[in-house]
Order: sequence, then C-alpha cells, then structure tokens
Amino acid sequence: MPSFSTLFVTITAALLVRGADNSTDSSNTTDTTIATDTLTSGNSYGAPLTPWEQGTTPGWYYGDNPDNLPDSLTDLPWLQDSYLCWLLEQQNDGFQCPTSPSSDGYTQLFSNLTGATEAVDYMTYGLVDTVEACKAMCDSVNGCIFVNSYHDVNGKNGSPLLTCSLFSQCHSAADSINRGGQTQPDGSIDYITNSDGYCKQKCSCSA
Ligand SMILES: *[C@@H]1O[C@H](CO)[C@@H](O)[C@H](O)[C@H]1NC(C)=O
Ligand SMILES: *[C@@H]1O[C@H](CO)[C@@H](O)[C@H](O)[C@H]1NC(C)=O
Ligand SMILES: *[C@@H]1O[C@H](CO)[C@@H](O)[C@H](O)[C@H]1NC(C)=O
Repeated sequence: MPSFSTLFVTITAALLVRGADNSTDSSNTTDTTIATDTLTSGNSYGAPLTPWEQGTTPGWYYGDNPDNLPDSLTDLPWLQDSYLCWLLEQQNDGFQCPTSPSSDGYTQLFSNLTGATEAVDYMTYGLVDTVEACKAMCDSVNGCIFVNSYHDVNGKNGSPLLTCSLFSQCHSAADSINRGGQTQPDGSIDYITNSDGYCKQKCSCSA
C-alpha cells in the first residue's frame, strides 16, 4: 500500500506527463515502436490471455475514435495510426491495419447471444466500433476466418465499444460458452450481450 504522499507524487507526475503531451497527434514514436513488439503472432497480437481468462485485456483498437477508449486502455495500439500501420507492414507478421472495408463474404452463424465464443483456435482480440470493423480486422489477420463481436458489459472498465475476437475455425452457437463472470477492477462482474458470430468460408458448417 503506497503512502498517500507517494500516491500523490505519482499522480501529479502522471498529470504532468499528460499535460505536456499536448500535440493533436497523440502518437509517440517510442510508444508506437513498443506497440509493434507486442503485436506479434507469438503474443496473440497483444492479447496473450484469451477473453475468457481473468485479468485479460484486449490487444488493439480499430476504430475512429481513440477518445472512446476507457481510461485503463488509452495506450492500446490504435490501428489507424499511420506510423504504427507502416511499422506493422515492415514487421510482416500476419497482422496489418485494415485498409479497406471487409470482403464481406461472411455468413452469420448466430446472433444476439449472451455468451461469447470460447475455443482453442483463438487468435487475438481487440476493440472495435462496429461489426463491420471486426470483419475488416479478420481480413487483415493471416488465417482468420471467424469473428465474434459482442458487448462485454462492465468488462474493460465500462467500455461501450464492441469486443472483437478472431478465430482460425468457424464456430456455432454451441461454443458461445463464455458468459463473463470475471471480477473487474471496480468489483463489478462482467457479462456478455449482443454476441454475433460470422464465418468467412462458404459455409458447410452448420449454424
Ligand atoms: C499546447 O498547445 C497550445 C495550443 O495548441 C500551445 O499554445 C502550447 O504551447 C502547447 N503546450 C505544449 C506544452 O506543447
Ligand atoms: C514517448 O514515450 C516514451 C516511452 O513511454 C517516453 O519515455 C517518452 O518520454 C515519450 N516522449 C514524448 C515526447 O512524449
Ligand atoms: C437481443 O437480446 C436482448 C435480450 O438478451 C433483447 O432485449 C434485444 O431486443 C435483442 N436484440 C435484437 C436486435 O434482437
């Protein structure tokens, strides 16, 4: 337990750092370079703990407005930062910033469930603004053929954004067994709503 004065100094220092960082382009070259180190295949592209594990955090944000990220996740790599996207291209590890809308060859396998997909072929997960953005992400990750988007209510410190998790095999409603239940830093328990699943293959899989 830090003493009050230690805490005070820490918070003040944090505020000073924030206050000094006043440029409209909030990307910091050093931070951005560090981000590409986490966005590797061996690290599940920044989300080595699956969405159904306690203490997990998303690996990236693909959306229009980083200001909508919850306070605890403001450092999440933003996949519309042109420098970060350029670095990811150079890194060439199967994970790119989407550059166009999804191919939309997707078939919806389930909709509006209160459970999220839990399966061993998990690849990575992040936050997005829309289901369309989640599909575009899947198109930008090598081997991805299935997206599961949902609201993690109370999770991710109250983020209103959609969670977008990506898989290398398609899944039916039967695998939507993650119903949340993780205790959040504020003591609340998360739960899942609006869980949708889309498979990219011309589907012989059953819904
Ligand atoms: C912050 O931005 C304002 C206006 O854009 C500018 O006048 C000021 O010098 C900046 N401060 C720092 C610390 O860069
Ligand atoms: C950028 O981030 C690094 C690492 O977090 C930090 O050491 C550095 O001071 C930051 N630079 C600016 C200009 O904010
Ligand atoms: C989704 O399910 C919830 C109940 O879990 C229901 O209230 C809501 O109307 C449903 N939405 C749609 C679009 O079907």
